[in-house]
Amino acid sequence: MRLKLTVNGEPHEIVDAWGGESLLYALRERLGLPGSKNACEQGECGSCSVYLDGTLVCSCLVLAAQAHEREVVTVEGLAPEGELHAVQQAFVEAGAVQCGFCTPGLIVASHDLLARDPRPSEADIREALAGNICRCTGYAKIVDAVQLAAERLAA
Ligand code: FES
Ligand code: FES
Repeated sequence: MRLKLTVNGEPHEIVDAWGGESLLYALRERLGLPGSKNACEQGECGSCSVYLDGTLVCSCLVLAAQAHEREVVTVEGLAPEGELHAVQQAFVEAGAVQCGFCTPGLIVASHDLLARDPRPSEADIREALAGNICRCTGYAKIVDAVQLAAERLAA
């Protein structure tokens, strides 16, 4: 099937998508955007988090066909080319990145949280990121990163 979608502000066309193809597969394998990670492919880990028409979704659970004529934003699209968004910069500075596999999904989910709630409490952050699994950090530095990003975005 032929699909048209906008990803990170750019129009794209996929000419031969198959019916069961996930949005995550389309982003990574067809459009060359490997930022969204494929860790579980079952909606359990959040590593594939993207925005679909402004709503946070697990792209492994969304069919590529469901993104037809819609707008997708991935971790690659949060900041202009060559720059880091405040959330990305904070993750680096706070030491919230170890193996990095969970990081893109956590950054998109944190970006979404701060858009809805610019000054979240630690409990709010942990609740908002509960769907994003990290096997490395123990989460404390991730919470630090979100708090740092919140401070900078509010300044
Ligand atoms: S890869 Fe989508 S939730 Fe884990
Ligand atoms: S940094 Fe390795 S899974 Fe989170």
